[in-house]
Amino acid sequence: MVNRLRSDDWYEGADRNAYIHRAWMRRGNPDDALDGSRPQIAIANTASDLTPCNAHLDEVAESVKAGIWAAGGVPYNLPVVSLGETQVKPTAMLWRNMAAMAMEEMFRANPIDGVVLLGGCDKTIPALLMAASSVDIPAIVVPGGPMITGHFRGEALGCGTDVWRLSEEVRAGTLSNEQFLRSESSMIRSKGHCNTMGTASTMAVVAEALGMTIPGFAGTPAPDARLLSMSHDTGRLIVEMIRSDRKPSDIMTKDAFLNAIVAVAAVGGSTNSVVHLLAIAGRLGIDLTLDDFDAAGAGVPVMANLQPSGRFLMDDLYRAGGVLGLLAQIKDMLKPAPITVTGVPLVEYLDDRPVYDDTVILPRDAPLMEDAGITVLRGNLAPRGALIKPAAATPELLQHTGPAVVFDSIEDMRDRIDDPALDVTADSVLVLRGCGPRGYPGMPEVGNMPIPKRLLEQGVRDMVRISDARMSGTAYGTVILHAAPEAAAGGPLAFVRTGDIITIDVESRTLNMAVSDEELQSRSQSPISEAAYAAPVRGWEKLYVDHVMQADTGADLDFLVGGSGSKVSRESH
Ligand code: FES
Ligand code: MG
Repeated sequence: MVNRLRSDDWYEGADRNAYIHRAWMRRGNPDDALDGSRPQIAIANTASDLTPCNAHLDEVAESVKAGIWAAGGVPYNLPVVSLGETQVKPTAMLWRNMAAMAMEEMFRANPIDGVVLLGGCDKTIPALLMAASSVDIPAIVVPGGPMITGHFRGEALGCGTDVWRLSEEVRAGTLSNEQFLRSESSMIRSKGHCNTMGTASTMAVVAEALGMTIPGFAGTPAPDARLLSMSHDTGRLIVEMIRSDRKPSDIMTKDAFLNAIVAVAAVGGSTNSVVHLLAIAGRLGIDLTLDDFDAAGAGVPVMANLQPSGRFLMDDLYRAGGVLGLLAQIKDMLKPAPITVTGVPLVEYLDDRPVYDDTVILPRDAPLMEDAGITVLRGNLAPRGALIKPAAATPELLQHTGPAVVFDSIEDMRDRIDDPALDVTADSVLVLRGCGPRGYPGMPEVGNMPIPKRLLEQGVRDMVRISDARMSGTAYGTVILHAAPEAAAGGPLAFVRTGDIITIDVESRTLNMAVSDEELQSRSQSPISEAAYAAPVRGWEKLYVDHVMQADTGADLDFLVGGSGSKVSRESH
């Protein structure tokens, strides 16, 4: 039990500084709010009207506040730089590290004893977990929850996934553009984040599997009344966590990360979870590598029949038994030791978890795919690794050899992809470079390049695609991502040429081009035009490009790796 609070360093005593800290914060709170008896708790709130997936979090924050008061704490709303995945350009990922850096500094600088992290849309939970890890004061996540299912002409529409699918149908000529546009108002039916197993849903599952949410919280739909009651419970629990001094470093151990990797595999989660998990682990000083993803995820069956890998949506998962119901099916694959925010191990919440619909949470002996963790490929195209999500790929393409068709930038790809003169067949391997963390900058979700129109019209719906970019967690296809080092960092992706023969073999985990070392060496003497890569001269982009690390280590800024604890450097007055 903790007797002295961190916030006592601000509020305790009879001197002038304590007077100043208290006087400005009274604001109508009860007299004992700052007397050292009540933990001071920030609600890191990513609510923003420009982050539509998180816009409801102000209401959620009120429930958290009520819970904090009820347990004897004092809550404070703390706005966070918020990132609307669909809105900001060039890509929300460019500011994940900025949000993480800003919140790390604010958690440390302020008179708080713990934080409740309110997230939802893709980058918001990762940024908050990175920040809380570097400060290491008690912290707990409230996942804002997915939207309920929208329908168009009687059929469920999956956020993101069906945009990709329907827009390809338009390009193939099998759906009119008018029909496509008509579906626009049907997709987003309620508050909440994307209802597919995209990045937002995946990161909610990750937060729960890491032990950082109340068990059973992840996947609760945003409009569901239980979201608010669990938010209230979260407010109560953070008060107890502070009194017990249960910190992120006590919860997010190496084994907890391995559990998160297993959980991502079992739900068929987003490839984006890899850079986020690596970055969070980096903040905690945990030695997590790409090989851990391959090793821990190998042999894990995809148990969730959810888009983009399968058919259903998050609302269906919740009614079928939820994330805990799903994890209960693979309990034997989870490490037993890691505790959750409650102090009780995650695995202890997995007994007696019935599945109510086994077409959504599939039986262990009939999963969507047998062995489908995110797979790491290496070879002379990506010596430090590249990723593929086999569950979202075409099985026949998981072993493939074909000639490269190379694009130097996203603009180059858009200019030429539908050109009838482009020398491309279904066997070609599309290669896109200049889209890594440094090159774009920010590693956008463009790795799922469109299939050339001519091939779409012939019925081709998937091809092997390789890039240093990411892909939306809602997307699908035989798409190899996160090639490291990226082209802009001098990776061999910069030297591949149209016509080079590329071989991918997911089973043997290799990705190679049939180009000799000597030839690659000579090509490296004449790199592609630097103009294809970002060269910012000031501001955040400049700081980012100068310091961002490669995807294989989480794409954090090099000087943000690790933590500085919660100690402030000097007094303020
Ligand atoms: Fe916000 Fe998908 S756009 S979660
Ligand atoms: Mg996304």
